Amino acid sequence: MKTEIIKIDPDNITPSLSDIKRAAEILKSGGLVVFPTETVYGLGGDATNPASAEKIFSAKGRPKDNPLIIHIENAEDAALYAKTTPLYYRLAEKFMPGPLTVILESKDTVPYQTRGGLETVAVRCPENPVARAFISLAGVAVAAPSANLSGSPSPTNASHVIDDMYGRVDVIIDGGECDFGLESTIVKIENENTVTLLRPGKITLDELSLVCNVNVASAVVSELKAGEIALSPGMKYRHYAPASPVRLLDGERDDVLKYVKEQGNNKFAILVYSEDKDYFAKQLPSASLYELGSIKNESAQAHELFKILRDADKESFDVIYAPLPKAEGIGLALYNRLIRAAAHTIVNLRAANT
Ligand code: TXA
Ligand code: MG
Repeated sequence: MKTEIIKIDPDNITPSLSDIKRAAEILKSGGLVVFPTETVYGLGGDATNPASAEKIFSAKGRPKDNPLIIHIENAEDAALYAKTTPLYYRLAEKFMPGPLTVILESKDTVPYQTRGGLETVAVRCPENPVARAFISLAGVAVAAPSANLSGSPSPTNASHVIDDMYGRVDVIIDGGECDFGLESTIVKIENENTVTLLRPGKITLDELSLVCNVNVASAVVSELKAGEIALSPGMKYRHYAPASPVRLLDGERDDVLKYVKEQGNNKFAILVYSEDKDYFAKQLPSASLYELGSIKNESAQAHELFKILRDADKESFDVIYAPLPKAEGIGLALYNRLIRAAAHTIVNLRAANT
């Protein structure tokens, strides 16, 4: 398939509106269009067209029972596709447009193919201006999973998208770097006072708790147990994983240094906080170091994480070491993505010292 790349300046989209309109028409006639959002790039198709959903699953190599998020221009448009509730509007008022996805009971306007056979549908109203213009010009909800091949990290810039999707989609809209860099927070509405957090993101547990009670699905922080039912189909699959094994190290930098030296790997990488970069560069000159960002700036780390995992994956390391984030605030989103990338291998370097 021939893929057209449309480059757009997200700070000045007016000159590109005719290009965005052309992409929207391709989507409406059943084509696939990758577009930027404030979280990660999405692989878009017409949410009301079962054939578009089928195409998305095959372009990504994704199992068909893993449902797609539908993207709308205005929070109120959810009522066209789902049974909205007062709690939905309370969440929407505070967090939409923005990086929050809400799971509601679906209406028939969304075919089962889009929602992976479920009775519910995931709804998100993004704030990225290119995404908003695109959805608006399409005039229909846009079904979009992250625009990566199944099993690799979500793409946060157009070059990641080109690596994974060139030749598999009709159009790639290049709108530069995604602001946040990790996927949206997902909640499921349980009743009028309670949601369950299925995937942590930029909208934190504390922020959600200002609106309603929040249960945290156990799979957010730990592995699904044998026989445990996944609340979200996506939880069943090993996500975001680079080919080299990732090991999470829970300890101070001295403990990390000691541990890494003891392992004696030949070709290895360490994800380091900016504050520790010189320390590790001096102590471990043979290590490949990837700078995550300041230990104090979790948004900066969120912005870098998937890019680093992709870069590191080009090198085939024996092992990639990464620090275990604190599972709080935006740190919970980093923690959730890293434990998946590491297939839950956490090395506790603190116990020995206490
Ligand atoms: O930030 C994001 O959410 C990005 C951008 C493109 O919007 N999209 C994204 O989509 O991350 P995807 O498909 O990669 O992840 C969506 C997750 C999957 O794990 C899926 O299983 C879950 O949402 N999901 C979708 N619909 C669901 C539903 N009805 N019930 C439970 N989980 C659902
Ligand atoms: Mg994804």
